[in-house]
Amino acid sequence: MKVRSVPRFLVIPLLVSAVADARAIEQRSSSNGTVGNRPPVCQDFIIPVHAQKTIEGTVSLEDYDIDVLFSVSDGEVLVDGDYELSARFCEPPAGIASKDTLQVLLHGATFNKVMWDFPYKPEEYSWVLYMTNAGYSTLAIDFVGAGNSTKPNGYLEVQTATLVQNTHEVLQGIRSEGVLGRTFDQVALVGFSIGGVVANAIAATYPTDVDNILFLGTSWDKDWVYPAFIAGLQTAGNILNPDKWGNLDNFYQTQPTVAAREVACFFGNYDAEALQTDFETRDLDTLGAALSFAFHLSEAPEFRGPVFLGIGRQDSSFCPKVCGSQPYAIYDSFPAASNHVVRVYDNTGHALLYHHVAPQVIRDARLYLDQHSA
Ligand SMILES: *[C@@H]1O[C@H](CO)[C@@H](O)[C@H](O)[C@H]1NC(C)=O
Ligand SMILES: *[C@@H]1O[C@H](CO)[C@@H](O)[C@H](O)[C@H]1NC(C)=O
Repeated sequence: MKVRSVPRFLVIPLLVSAVADARAIEQRSSSNGTVGNRPPVCQDFIIPVHAQKTIEGTVSLEDYDIDVLFSVSDGEVLVDGDYELSARFCEPPAGIASKDTLQVLLHGATFNKVMWDFPYKPEEYSWVLYMTNAGYSTLAIDFVGAGNSTKPNGYLEVQTATLVQNTHEVLQGIRSEGVLGRTFDQVALVGFSIGGVVANAIAATYPTDVDNILFLGTSWDKDWVYPAFIAGLQTAGNILNPDKWGNLDNFYQTQPTVAAREVACFFGNYDAEALQTDFETRDLDTLGAALSFAFHLSEAPEFRGPVFLGIGRQDSSFCPKVCGSQPYAIYDSFPAASNHVVRVYDNTGHALLYHHVAPQVIRDARLYLDQHSA
């Protein structure tokens, strides 16, 4: 993998008092999960990836037929493409001991990598702020079709199979130093919603790509994922906001109103401001991803690392109204995993990181990671 701009470690001049302060923060952090709130050291860069189609022949919308759907259901990549993925790499603030574990963060559909560093009350809701202050490094990527990544055809190209292939390429590039200019002893994949589905597919197809997987807002109940998604009243972005999204094809879509966003992502205990911020920062999803993602929920019998699942009890995007046994399907889907940790959060909907439980979810994920990482 070629990298256009390899991030380099920023040399930060340290003041003695800052170091002492950081040590104090670090010592306090171990007892009850509280960490400091100092800004991490971050860099934005581009990771070029190449999608390689896995079907014979070519597909097009001019010559459209049912074979397209059948190929999608078989998990095929339909179109070759060269894409640029926008990425953000963050390291612990100076003075915080850096762990040798990298978290690769995969966002959900109609979200982008900003979800991991939510602008509303970051000291409570920012995954990246907390994790870097706990010593972890994070690499958040925008999937193709989202954030600042390439936005190719939203039906034929922005498919779950493409996201999986791209993610595999990025993970290979991390292992070979090409992406970050250094390696990590361990890589943990963290996926929310469709990001979790991609993580599931990575574990099933490339079981040694990562050491550890954390699922957030994901289950394996195929009866529920698609209707819930449609209930968000997906509408073409170029109609909703021509200034912002007018250049995209009709297959790029998102929730048109705050109420529709609330149906899709929220339940129970959350701040109205968190919902409003989420609505304003929401991104577009594509018809291709929506159509294909359930086909990638599968068993990963070869994955031998530990797995964590955090989900809101009222995640009606992935559970039938209320989660009962659904989250525990992780035991069946990952029969060889070295450990299974399931946390179900009361009075919480799909976007659990934007509910009042967010700090608890992030702390739980950190405690789990601390037990299983370098
Ligand atoms: C955790 O410990 C810190 C430092 O001792 C304290 O300030 C904080 O209130 C505690 N937090 C919780 C949730 O108990
Ligand atoms: C995309 O880039 C713009 C300009 O640098 C920035 O403001 C925005 O936060 C970026 N979005 C994402 C999802 O990274």
